[in-house]
Amino acid sequence: MDFSLIPLLVVAGISVALALVIVIVEKLVIKAGPVTLKLNEAAPKEIEGGGSLLGALKDEGVLVPSACGGRGSCGMCKVKVLEGGGKILATEAPHLTDEEQEGNIRLSCQIKVRENLVVEVPSGLLDIEEYEVLVTGAEPLNHDTMRVTLTFEEGVEFSFRSGQYVQLETPIYDGLPAPTQRAYSIASPPQEKNYIDLIIRRVKRGVATTFVHDLIEVDDELTLSGPYGDFYLRETPAEAIFIAGGSGLAPFEAILADMAARNIAKKVTLIFGAVNGDDLYDVEKMRGYEREIPNFRYVPALSSPREEDNWEGEVGLVTEVAGRLFESMEGMEGYLCGGPGMIDACIKEMTNRGIKEKDIYYDKFT
Ligand SMILES: Cc1cc2nc3c(=O)[nH]c(=O)nc-3n(C[C@H](O)[C@H](O)[C@H](O)COP(=O)(O)OP(=O)(O)OC[C@H]3O[C@@H](n4cnc5c(N)ncnc54)[C@H](O)[C@@H]3O)c2cc1C
Ligand code: FES
Repeated sequence: MDFSLIPLLVVAGISVALALVIVIVEKLVIKAGPVTLKLNEAAPKEIEGGGSLLGALKDEGVLVPSACGGRGSCGMCKVKVLEGGGKILATEAPHLTDEEQEGNIRLSCQIKVRENLVVEVPSGLLDIEEYEVLVTGAEPLNHDTMRVTLTFEEGVEFSFRSGQYVQLETPIYDGLPAPTQRAYSIASPPQEKNYIDLIIRRVKRGVATTFVHDLIEVDDELTLSGPYGDFYLRETPAEAIFIAGGSGLAPFEAILADMAARNIAKKVTLIFGAVNGDDLYDVEKMRGYEREIPNFRYVPALSSPREEDNWEGEVGLVTEVAGRLFESMEGMEGYLCGGPGMIDACIKEMTNRGIKEKDIYYDKFT
């Protein structure tokens, strides 16, 4: 026998033993057999254990929002778990307020189904449906942003409120283990019920956006669910400031189209933040809304304009521009859409200048 192989054989033996232990522990701890799920007022139903509660709810036709595709980072898949969820995990705690924790609110993507469960979801979620759609348009808007048009099957009417979003499923590619879901705001008018536009910005090495930017083709069939969210225009007499960064313009495009279609004359200023001229898009469309909507003003702002931009508009971060335009924001409403950093900075600026926190509405593109 070649004695030099002994250390290798020992390491291989330990690895196999460890793998076996993990499989046995998983079988014992994560019950894979049938358990019961009692959902809202319905009678308990037998389901297969072993997966996540988010997946189990999906199998039951309950499409809980899950913007990060179940990775525990978006905090959007909250449901009330009255029995069977075990202790709150470290991955859930940062997304749950003390009040939510006391009220048994949990992240459904983090809960493994291993014992009988009693779960409550908001009744509105039960109406959310899954749809097959056809890609009927894929148009670059600038160097990193695309408008994608998705058309529903003939006869299907997709009703939504301007400002809401859908969960788009992107398929397996390049050896990914499974399809994934991400949230995208609807950019087209709610009056159009047979198609929706999405505005999708590329994220470096992002799973869904790489598919959309590099692989999507007209006539592809995709799946989406929705509509989700409570980001919509409050039709009050209060003046509003909209602030968008990057693809955060998407829900505002739907809201403005809706305002134009329904003659809503609320006083609105939209500040669109970009780094330089290459990041702007749909400028003419926004100028068109300035002519069409009585009290609407569009203010694009560049934080680092270049010489070739010949920029004569506002310069600075959106917070600075908002502060210059409105010294006091008392009695106004704030609507924000874009990355978490921009939104947190805008909330600070707006509350410092007098907008009540309850009057600030936002969708953080996490
Ligand atoms: C309610 C809601 C609405 C949304 N609407 C839109 C929309 O209309 N248009 C749109 O383009 N996006 C929107 N998003 C964001 C979108 O859901 C995805 O998170 C985003 O497209 C990235 O997905 P991905 O799979 O390509 O990247 P992932 O594979 O999820 O991320 C890859 C890596 O990039 C990082 N990352 C993720 N997002 C960003 C980012 N924006 N900037 C920098 N780094 C990032 C992650 O931390 C990770 O390390 C929305 C999100 C929410 C919650
Ligand atoms: S789906 Fe659960 S945290 Fe994002």
